[in-house]
Amino acid sequence: MTLTTDETVLGAMEPHEPGNFATHATPLVRNCWYVAARADEIGRTPLARKLVGADVVLYRTEAGEPVAMRNRCPHRSFPLARGTLEGDRLICGYHGMEFEADGVCVNMPALSSTPSTVTVRTYPVVDRGPVTWIWVGAPDLADESLIPDLPWLSDDVEWGTVTGHFHIEADYVSMHENLIDQTHFPFLHPGTVGTPEYARSKLTATTEHDQVVIRRELSDCAPPGVYGRPAEIMHKRIDRSSEARFVSPAVHTAFARITDHDPDPGKPGLYRYNITHCFTPESNTAIHYWWFVSRDYRPRDPAIDRFMVEAHEQAYSEDLEALEWIMDVVRNDADPHIELSFATDKPGLMARRILFRLARKEN
Ligand code: FES
Ligand SMILES: [Fe+2]
Repeated sequence: MTLTTDETVLGAMEPHEPGNFATHATPLVRNCWYVAARADEIGRTPLARKLVGADVVLYRTEAGEPVAMRNRCPHRSFPLARGTLEGDRLICGYHGMEFEADGVCVNMPALSSTPSTVTVRTYPVVDRGPVTWIWVGAPDLADESLIPDLPWLSDDVEWGTVTGHFHIEADYVSMHENLIDQTHFPFLHPGTVGTPEYARSKLTATTEHDQVVIRRELSDCAPPGVYGRPAEIMHKRIDRSSEARFVSPAVHTAFARITDHDPDPGKPGLYRYNITHCFTPESNTAIHYWWFVSRDYRPRDPAIDRFMVEAHEQAYSEDLEALEWIMDVVRNDADPHIELSFATDKPGLMARRILFRLARKEN
């Protein structure tokens, strides 16, 4: 399905059926690889984290393999993250039950023999580049080939990447819609990613299996500050193209390409930016969010790194604040409300329809 934002599309939109689009109240999609943590957050100190409704403790074995275990002792529910590690075993801090990395209990000090069938649930976890992925859904569906391929995050020769993390009091459905909605750029982010001509430019929105892709192109325009300033091309007229993709309930990517047809001596004619948004709902009202911004020029320039961190933290803070304000309204306003959508909301609605369908398959 391919659509454009022509006014004619408004007439072509299907009748609004709220039940077909995920909202903040739709059950979380669990059969999906989500980011559990940055790989370097997981070490020899147990780390407690709530991920897609599951209370999890994360640690590494002595060999460095990541372990994800339910953060609840089967005996009296002591949070295992408050226990201690001995070798690869996690020891409960209440009565000392010992669990191997596969979740099997190998010792209960109060008993003369170990109960043979006691286990704690463990979850599949996989390190890939800078992040560790977890699958909290049906274990037999945890196929590692479904982990999104994000090779630029592991390539520090061609790409320079900066990253950050936020914890947000909002729902992941709104976050998905925010990330695929570029019409808010000039209003919510006037100083960074937004230019008025970009907001008015025509986009195409396409579904590819369970992904949504939006593309837009602009010719002979001013560069947006967030990309033009670090590249030192703010005085230029450039061509701009972008692709934003709802990859899965856990990941969005955005590829921005800036073409300078008349580069100054020694400068590239093309600047590539790959933006990776990984977010994992804790619950229906809170999200862990890790963002990565990668560029393909001057990958180890600390001044550009600093600029990119500051500019993106500002832009994302604007989004997160907006999403928290919206969540506050949605949770606290008891008056009836019918959500109004326009043709330009189509990409977000396409993503919400996919989320709804995936959630319904599980429930
Ligand atoms: S609560 Fe863990 S051993 Fe008793
Ligand atoms: Fe935004």
